[in-house]
Amino acid sequence: MQFRYDYVVFPLIANVVAVFLCMPNMDTGNSDLSRAEELKNLANEAFKAHKYAQAIDLYSQAIELNGQNAVYWANRSFAHTKLEEYGSAIQDASKAIEGYYRRGAAYLAMGKFKDALKDFQQVKKLSPNDLDSAKKLKECEKAVKKLKFEEAIAVPESKRESVADSIDYRAIEVEPQYLGARIEGDVITLEFVKKMMDDFTNQKCLHKRYAYQIVLQMREMLRALPSLVDIKIPDGNHFTVCGDVHGQFYDLLNIFELNGLPSEENPYLFNGDFVDRGSFSVEVILTLFAFKCMAPSAIYLSRGNHESKSMNKIYGFEGEVRSKLSETFVELFAEVFCCLPLAHVLNEKVFVVHGGLFSVDGVKLSDIKAIDRFCEPPEEGLMCEILWSDPQPLPGRGPSKRGVGLSFGGDVTKRFLQDNNLDLVVRSHEVKDEGYEIEHDGKLITVFSAPNYCDQAHIETYGYGENMGNKGAFIRFEAPDMKPNIVTFAAVPHPDVKPMAYANNFLRMFS
Ligand SMILES: *[C@@H]1O[C@H](CO)[C@@H](O)[C@H](O)[C@H]1NC(C)=O
Repeated sequence: MQFRYDYVVFPLIANVVAVFLCMPNMDTGNSDLSRAEELKNLANEAFKAHKYAQAIDLYSQAIELNGQNAVYWANRSFAHTKLEEYGSAIQDASKAIEGYYRRGAAYLAMGKFKDALKDFQQVKKLSPNDLDSAKKLKECEKAVKKLKFEEAIAVPESKRESVADSIDYRAIEVEPQYLGARIEGDVITLEFVKKMMDDFTNQKCLHKRYAYQIVLQMREMLRALPSLVDIKIPDGNHFTVCGDVHGQFYDLLNIFELNGLPSEENPYLFNGDFVDRGSFSVEVILTLFAFKCMAPSAIYLSRGNHESKSMNKIYGFEGEVRSKLSETFVELFAEVFCCLPLAHVLNEKVFVVHGGLFSVDGVKLSDIKAIDRFCEPPEEGLMCEILWSDPQPLPGRGPSKRGVGLSFGGDVTKRFLQDNNLDLVVRSHEVKDEGYEIEHDGKLITVFSAPNYCDQAHIETYGYGENMGNKGAFIRFEAPDMKPNIVTFAAVPHPDVKPMAYANNFLRMFS
C-alpha cells in the first residue's frame, strides 16, 4: 500500500527552532553571543552619533560573531542607507527579513503568536511590497486578536467554572438509528471497548453521549491521583511502557495485537503525547481513556507536552476534536489533560516521565509528588522540565534545542538516580530510528511508539514509499528483576488521511 505525502512540516520547524530560537538563550558560557550584543550596542551608539561608517564596522563585527540575529542585519542596513550605499542596504535587509521570517515561523510553531507577530511586523517594515509576508502578517494578526479576545473574556483560573461540571451526559438522547458501541448503565466493559475500537477502525464515530461519559469518568479518576504515581508489579508479572503515540490509532491497535490488550494481568503505561500530529488522535485518546475507566490498574497515563492547549491549538488535536466531536469537547479535554499525573515509579526502581530531568540537582520524588499539576504546563520549573527536557551526550546541562526545558547529561541522570535510590530513567518525547535509544551508560532509555512518525521519514529519503520510516518500540519489564526488554515494530497502513490534516493553517504556510 502506498500513500502520498505532500508536506514535511516537522523537520523544517525543528531546524528553524534549533537555529534561530535557541541560540539567543544560550547564556551558559557562550561569550560570543554576549560579545556580539555589546558590539551591537556600541554600533547603535555610533549610529545615533551619526558615525555611520563606524556603526557599520561594529555591526559587521557583531555579525561575524552571530550571523543569526536579524537585528544586526537590519541595523547595518539602515546605516548603509544613511551612507547611500543602497546595494549593501538591500543585501542586509534581505538577510534581516530572512532572520525575522524564520524566527517568526519558529515562534508560530511554538504557539507564541505575539512574538511571531512582532517578527512579521519587522518583515513587513523591511519589505512592504511582499504579498506573501503581508498575508502571513494578516493571519498572525488575526490569531493574536483572537487570543487577546479570549484573554479578555477569560475568568481567572481559580474562579473558572469547569466545563465538566456543566455537562449532564445522561440527558443526551441516543437516537435509535445509532448503530455504534453503547455503554449500558455506568460500567464500561471490555465488550464495549472492543466494539468501539472496531467502529473506530472502520472510521465510525462514537456517540457524543458515550464520549462524554468516558471523558468525565476519566476526569474523576485522574483528579484523585497524586502527581507521581507508584506502581507495584508483583513477582512473576510483567508491565509494558509505551512512548508517544501521537494520534496513530492504527499503530496503537498494532501494539495491542503484538502485546495483548490492556488488562489487570497485562498492564500498560502510556508515557504522554497521545494526541496531535497523527490524524486519529480522538480515536487514540478515547481508547486509552476507555481502558482506564474499564480497569484503572490495566493502564496508566502520564502527561506529555502535547497534552496542553497551546500545542493542541497548532498540532491538530483541537481541530480534530472540533471536527469529530464538538467545541465543548475542546475545553473538556483541556481540563482533563490538566489532571494527568506527571511521573510514575515502577517497583521503586524505574522512574518514568515524558521529557526528562531537571535544571537543578537534589530533586526528590517527594518534590515531584508535591507539584500542583492542575494547570497548563508552565514555562519553567519542575513541571515544565518533566514535560520538555531531553538527554544530551555531554555531561552537565545545556540549553534546549526546543527553546523550552533543557538538555541534561549522564552525570545529571546518575545523581538523580542515586539521590532517589532508583535504577533507571525511562522517557519518551523524541523520535528514534529504532523506536528507542539507550544512553547515559544504560541509565536512561528513550522509548517512542509512533512508527513512521508523521509519515515523514521516508519522504525525505524516497519521496514516498512503504513503511521505511522510524520503527516504534515498547519496553516490557518483568518483576522482580525489572530488566527492560525492548520490542520494536514497524508501521502498519492507515486510511489515507494525512498527518496534521487538522493542524493549524500556519504550519502549512511555512512548509
Ligand atoms: C538597532 O537595534 C536596537 C535593538 O537593540 C534597536 O532598538 C535600535 O533602535 C536599532 N536601530 C538603530 C538604527 O540603532
